[in-house]
Amino acid sequence: MASVLFVCLGNICRSPTAHGIFAAQVDAAGLADSIAVDSCGTGAWHVGEPPDARATATARQRGYDLAPLRARQFEVADFQRFDVILAMDRSNLSHLEALRPEDYTGTLSLFLDYHPAASTREVPDPYYGGDGGFEEVLDLVEAASAGLLEALRAS
Ligand code: 4NP
Repeated sequence: MASVLFVCLGNICRSPTAHGIFAAQVDAAGLADSIAVDSCGTGAWHVGEPPDARATATARQRGYDLAPLRARQFEVADFQRFDVILAMDRSNLSHLEALRPEDYTGTLSLFLDYHPAASTREVPDPYYGGDGGFEEVLDLVEAASAGLLEALRAS
C-alpha cells in the first residue's frame, strides 16, 4: 500500500487538480485498493472550501471531477500517514522540509521530479492569473501523474 499526498499553498488549485487526476489514473489502472491519494495546503485560508471554480471547470473539460474535494491544511501528523509527499513548488517544499521529522523515511520532493521533460521544476500558481494557467497546470499534472504511477508500479 502506497500513500501519496499532494501539497500546494491553498489546496484549491494545484494540489486538488493533482489529487483528482492522479486518483483517476490510479483507478483506471485498477490500483485504487493499493494507492491512497490525498491533498492539502500549507496555508489555512481556504480550509473546507471546494476547489477554485476555474480549476474544476478546466478539469471537467478533460473528464475529471474535482467538485467533491474539500481543502484542508497540512499537519505534521501527515508525515506518519503518507510515504510520498509531493510539493507543487519550492516554497511549498521549503515549508514541508522545515516541519519534517528527523525520522521521516518517506519521499518528500517536488511533484515535477516525476516529469523530467517539463521545462519547469515547479507547477506555477494559477490563482492570480488567467484561465490559461489552469490549462498549463493540467498539462503538467497529467504528465507528472503518469510518471509517478509508473515509478510506484516499479517500486
Ligand atoms: P493553490 O493556489 O496553492 O494552487 O491552491 C492558491 C490558492 C489560493 C491562494 C494562493 C494560491 N491564496 O492566496 O488565497
